Amino acid sequence: AEAIEFYGAHQAGIVTPAQDRLHFAAFDVITSDREELVELLKAWTAAAARMCGGDYAGPGGAVGGDVYAPPEDTGEAQGLPASGLTLTIGFGPSLFQDADGADRFGIAAKRPDALTELPGFPLDDLDPAISGGDLCIQACANDPQIAVHAVRNLARIGFGTVSIRWSQLGFGRTSSTSQAQATPRNLMGFKDGTANLKAEDGDLLDEHLWVGDGDGADWLAGGSYLVSRRIRMMVETWDRTSLTEQEAIFGRDKSEGAPLSGGGEFDEPDFDAERDGAPAIPMNAHVRLAHPSSNDGARLLRRGYSFVDGSDDLGRLDAGLFFIAYQRDPATGFIPVQQALAKSDVLNEYIKHTSSALFACPPGVADGSDWWGRALF
Ligand code: HEM
Repeated sequence: AEAIEFYGAHQAGIVTPAQDRLHFAAFDVITSDREELVELLKAWTAAAARMCGGDYAGPGGAVGGDVYAPPEDTGEAQGLPASGLTLTIGFGPSLFQDADGADRFGIAAKRPDALTELPGFPLDDLDPAISGGDLCIQACANDPQIAVHAVRNLARIGFGTVSIRWSQLGFGRTSSTSQAQATPRNLMGFKDGTANLKAEDGDLLDEHLWVGDGDGADWLAGGSYLVSRRIRMMVETWDRTSLTEQEAIFGRDKSEGAPLSGGGEFDEPDFDAERDGAPAIPMNAHVRLAHPSSNDGARLLRRGYSFVDGSDDLGRLDAGLFFIAYQRDPATGFIPVQQALAKSDVLNEYIKHTSSALFACPPGVADGSDWWGRALF
């Protein structure tokens, strides 16, 4: 129920403990006026700070303002606590330059090299209508009504300046971002988030998560890159797969989440260990291919959510993992890991990537006079 501090050196919603619910929205900016965009970012910051504190989106509240105007808050969060709401903003490559390379808002020169469209990966089945976006808002909370209320009110405030391009609900966290949290399970029934970057990781966070002072974009120092991938799971096929095969695919056991090389959940996998003359963790197992030792030390902070978006016309659940990963540089983070997975991961028989986006999330908002993206404009 309690509120998570909105102000700080880093945006909340990255290394703060992963909440249980997600509403993620990508926006297109529909104005070409830089001042309008700046005014929106200021208004969004003020509303976000209020809502994360458990308050209405606007000071007039849901019913207390001018009765002849639409209310300054849509009202469905009345009586509900802050529920750990975090709102995290990101800026997409297309905010800086349009498809023809034109400088949309006078910020093209500030686009970091890393903030460019992700490369295509083998087996990608991306729908452009639910990919990309100029801006994103990641709303996480422990109550879905609170997360939806926040996105809805930001969209309402942005009417005429931005429009929602696509959005995604998530209902169960699939990662831990703190050692204080129990590891949750994904829709394949496996513990997910065991070997994740976590709040307690100290120097590793500066090395792998936060953009540094010398990384080439001053406005982004203290921020992070967000990669989102909507990954559909063929759950019906998965459910007809033997337990032995399921465990071999991940390289961990289903009950405890322990590596198949032995030990407990948090023991390091031993990739040299053998069982019956074969590698205990198969060569094409997910954890072997995704492990830092296979990817030049790459480490990600995964912060994804499960989704079920109804069912398809064959009666199969449209279910999966809305994968979110934060990192200091996608070129040494998500990209090499996904290249390795797309090439050899046995899990590929059961999943399909249907949307993709990359955003640069600026550092935290210092106080009430600061606003999202101030150093960029
Ligand atoms: C580990 C599931 C997609 C990167 C794991 C684990 C599971 C899992 C069960 C082992 C527990 C853990 O350490 O968290 C899945 C599922 C996916 C998926 C069901 C798709 C539906 C991805 C993608 C990436 C990724 C797209 C990045 C490109 C990782 C990494 C680890 C991991 C880095 C930790 C490896 C280690 O250090 O041991 N995943 N994953 N996963 N996954 Fe995935």
